Amino acid sequence: MIQIKNLWKSFEGKEVLKGLDLHIPRGETLVIMGRSGCGKSLLLKLVTGLMQPDAGEILVDGEEISGLKFKELNQMRRKIGLLFQSAALFDSMTVEENVGFMLAQHTKLSRAEIREIVIEKLHLVDLDGTEHLRPAELSGGMRKRVGLARAIAFDPEVILYDEPTTGLDPVTCVEINRLIQSLHAKLEVTSVVVTHDMDSAFTVATRMAMIHSGKIVAFGHPNEMLENDDPILQQFILLGAPEQILNVSNPVLKEFILNLRED
Ligand SMILES: Nc1ncnc2c1ncn2[C@@H]1O[C@H](COP(=O)(O)OP(=O)(O)O)[C@@H](O)[C@H]1O
Ligand SMILES: [Mg+2]
Repeated sequence: MIQIKNLWKSFEGKEVLKGLDLHIPRGETLVIMGRSGCGKSLLLKLVTGLMQPDAGEILVDGEEISGLKFKELNQMRRKIGLLFQSAALFDSMTVEENVGFMLAQHTKLSRAEIREIVIEKLHLVDLDGTEHLRPAELSGGMRKRVGLARAIAFDPEVILYDEPTTGLDPVTCVEINRLIQSLHAKLEVTSVVVTHDMDSAFTVATRMAMIHSGKIVAFGHPNEMLENDDPILQQFILLGAPEQILNVSNPVLKEFILNLRED
């Protein structure tokens, strides 16, 4: 679904991505992990065409995005829904207006048609009946879900999640993880989830990739990641897991941590 080849990006002489290659097969849930500042959010922005790489190629559904004209790029962007790290809602607008915003801006749909789509998307994220509320009246988890309803407004083929559970309490994290999995199944999308939260990562992933020093240094099934004895990867998984072993809900991850601690 997405092919990234030899991607380079630097800011003021500081190289962030240094020839990154990544293939995201259709229908998978890929978790991308890596230290803070390694370029995860940047990668999502490059994939959605919100930023341009210095060099390299990004193919979405076989199409090279840097070659696209403005109109084609907008068309392509509809295939990708992005849930920003901060839900980035408009505080002065209702939930309905937030979710329908891009539809109102970029389509000729009537208010009634937009409303119908908004209600359908809110139902998908378990927010029935919240249309008239404003962001200030919602919990952190609900705001994330409004952001998600907006991200799926155009029925995307790919959903990108930038740290969907960061800053949420453990119970809400579990809810968001369930939602990522249920949307993945219901909408038959390809999902890409950036996260530090390893409990969440091992719960939702069908593939995992780790960025380090501007490149993908590990890629594979969750089990392959746990079998990989690269110390940087192991350390990262350990640090991203809940401190208390009792709070690790994923059994495979729990076993991995217990084994590492025994060594
Ligand atoms: N628009 C920008 N201008 C300057 N530097 C940027 C910009 N976007 C990202 N960076 C830099 O690129 C690096 C990667 O950022 P980011 O992708 O946000 O990291 P993270 O992996 O934590 O999401 C950071 O060092 C950041 O300072
Ligand atoms: Mg980030």
